[in-house]
Amino acid sequence: MQLTTQEFNEIRNYIFKLSGIEIRDEKQYLVQQRLEPVVRSFGLNNFTDLIQRMTIDGDMRLRDKVIEAITTNETFFFRDIHPFDTFSNYILPELGERIKKRKSLSSGRKGAKVSIWCAASSTGQEPYSLAMLISEYAETNKYAGIGTNDFSILATDISSEVLAKAISGEYTEMEMGRGLSDYMKKKYFTRKGPNWLVDDTIQSMVDFRRVNLSETFVMLGGFDVIFCRNVLIYFSDDVKKKIIDQFDQMLSDNGFLVLGACESLSMVSNAFENVRHNETIVYKSKKKQPARFTDWQETAP
Ligand SMILES: C[S@@+](CC[C@H](N)C(=O)[O-])C[C@H]1O[C@@H](n2cnc3c(N)ncnc32)[C@H](O)[C@@H]1O
Repeated sequence: MQLTTQEFNEIRNYIFKLSGIEIRDEKQYLVQQRLEPVVRSFGLNNFTDLIQRMTIDGDMRLRDKVIEAITTNETFFFRDIHPFDTFSNYILPELGERIKKRKSLSSGRKGAKVSIWCAASSTGQEPYSLAMLISEYAETNKYAGIGTNDFSILATDISSEVLAKAISGEYTEMEMGRGLSDYMKKKYFTRKGPNWLVDDTIQSMVDFRRVNLSETFVMLGGFDVIFCRNVLIYFSDDVKKKIIDQFDQMLSDNGFLVLGACESLSMVSNAFENVRHNETIVYKSKKKQPARFTDWQETAP
């Protein structure tokens, strides 16, 4: 099935408008290769039918499939491992201190004391990995008065389909075999037929929502940590800049931003200080004022 240059241009313009994903000229063959199975699985005859169904009929399921095929939703538990080691050994102890401080500032206030956002979380392995580490940390620090309910985790993605899978919390044997230790598997998952189900204790720590990073999202609120990995690579510099500017507004003073191994803020923003922690670069928000969206004032109430 041939993708003409005109069809290629229509498709990439539409994808850019929809998601901020930039497809360069030399990717015509790749787009053809990735979208041909989508055309077939939707019973369409050719790429012109796909364009019509997506742009004029507004088929959301097809749009999601096209974006997934272009970006891939590749993910796995504890992907690249070192950012998760950094989260456990460097970020979590700092969050523990913040929790204690915020509790002392506002002892009557219920609910989470620190907030974590996992943006572009795909099928959920990344936010569940963070939740398992938080659970381990809370277990070790329970005598310091820290519990899992001191943490909130928001996980978002543009694709409703990957979000539905993430919410189900169900993973195949093969997915479980990618990155998950036997210890974590035994402790936090139970069998469901041939598959595995993440335990309620972990699942209930994560809220899933559909968020398109190419749109305005600052109203999601303030966060102490943002994980946004392996998605910025798909965006144009302009879109990337808008995303990072919003992250900066949303992060608390000294908030942490963790990007994918191939992603960086050079040329995009100088609002962050780079802190290298072993193999991971953590971007720390440099702002001196409390974040616009954080209502935790680090002064006496
Ligand atoms: C390669 S996966 C990365 C998953 C996970 N962060 C990781 O590193 O393992 C990229 C994800 O970005 C999502 N995505 C693509 N464009 C997006 C957008 N404009 N807004 C939000 N999510 C988007 C895709 O649906 C996909 O699930």
